[in-house]
Amino acid sequence: MTTKNTQILFAKRPTGWVDETTFETVETDLPELADGQVLVRNIYLSVDPYMRGRMNDTKSYVDGFQLGQPLQGGAVGQIAQSRNNRFQEGQYVTGMLGWESYSVSSGKDLRVVDPAHGPLSYYLGVLGMPGLTAYVGLLDVGRAKDGDTVFVSAASGAVGSVVGQIAKIKGCRAVGSAGGDDKVAYLTDELGYDAAFNYKTADSLGRALKETCPDGIDVYFENVGGAMLDAVLPRMRFQGRIALCGMISQYNLERPEPINNLIAMLVSRSTIQGFIVSDHWDRLPAFIADMSGWLRDGKVKYREDVMEGLENTPDAFIRMLSGKNFGKQLVKIGEE
Ligand SMILES: NC(=O)c1ccc[n+]([C@@H]2O[C@H](COP(=O)([O-])OP(=O)(O)OC[C@H]3O[C@@H](n4cnc5c(N)ncnc54)[C@H](OP(=O)(O)O)[C@@H]3O)[C@@H](O)[C@H]2O)c1
Repeated sequence: MTTKNTQILFAKRPTGWVDETTFETVETDLPELADGQVLVRNIYLSVDPYMRGRMNDTKSYVDGFQLGQPLQGGAVGQIAQSRNNRFQEGQYVTGMLGWESYSVSSGKDLRVVDPAHGPLSYYLGVLGMPGLTAYVGLLDVGRAKDGDTVFVSAASGAVGSVVGQIAKIKGCRAVGSAGGDDKVAYLTDELGYDAAFNYKTADSLGRALKETCPDGIDVYFENVGGAMLDAVLPRMRFQGRIALCGMISQYNLERPEPINNLIAMLVSRSTIQGFIVSDHWDRLPAFIADMSGWLRDGKVKYREDVMEGLENTPDAFIRMLSGKNFGKQLVKIGEE
């Protein structure tokens, strides 16, 4: 059993885009476990857009990262040592853990995962936080129902790819946007989206939405914000719902872009509701039951983009923020 740990610390607060100076890698000694603690050998780390918000010195729904401390995010690992009677050595767990080879945890936020439902890495994606986000955002917040047209931005990503597929299962028409022709082809040819467009090459977002959603939009699953939100607003149908999940196009801007078409919501009597997945953990059992069934029956397909090696975690984070990921961005740092 090693006594050393490799950790990636939050070294410098970024303004605008994140770069390598944000991070510092250090070797440290592993502490002795206290009563009630477990040592987790980390296997997969998840890099997610919300982590960019945790790098800012502003109050938000989740505490900011502390300078000089390891960055933290969703992870799957294996119990290497346990002084907590809820956990046995060898069990696989998921929770919020550090960007580090080993994490010491009180076990409070750890959940044992059942590899029978799917591969371990799925607990950071389609069977984890992004999948639950898609599920509650579409069904509870967006209240999507049979016959609705659902439009999803960042549609090929971890959340968006699941939203469109659940929409299809529920009898909706699913339309998506993504930032590449390969991603657009994946949406229509593999995930079953009814239509999709490349927002980077479309000459007008308004025209692309008119062509792909000719009868308007009942539910907009908002992942990107900015110009896309502005273009969607006039296309919302009577009493349409916007599930405001995220606005990734704004996260690295020093000044957010203005929204000009809000008045269109008055005309369509639409609503917009922000939501945070961590308020909806009560939906986890229903979600796991539904999603594991859909995966087993081949109704939901899932794609991952896995980098190898703890030292590549900052790169994985930066490439995900800039849209270079194709599928859920993960880093594999240990053997399963
Ligand atoms: N509310 C919640 O509780 C909650 C939970 C999880 C995630 N989220 C939000 O859900 C959204 C998607 O997250 P995810 O984990 O599924 O990430 P993801 O979609 O797997 O990866 C991020 C994607 O965002 C797209 N993107 C990046 N910059 C963009 C820009 N300027 N304009 C348009 N698209 C851009 C890129 O795809 P393209 O190549 O298509 O541009 C990139 O691949 C994010 O906004 C995130 O903050 C919210």
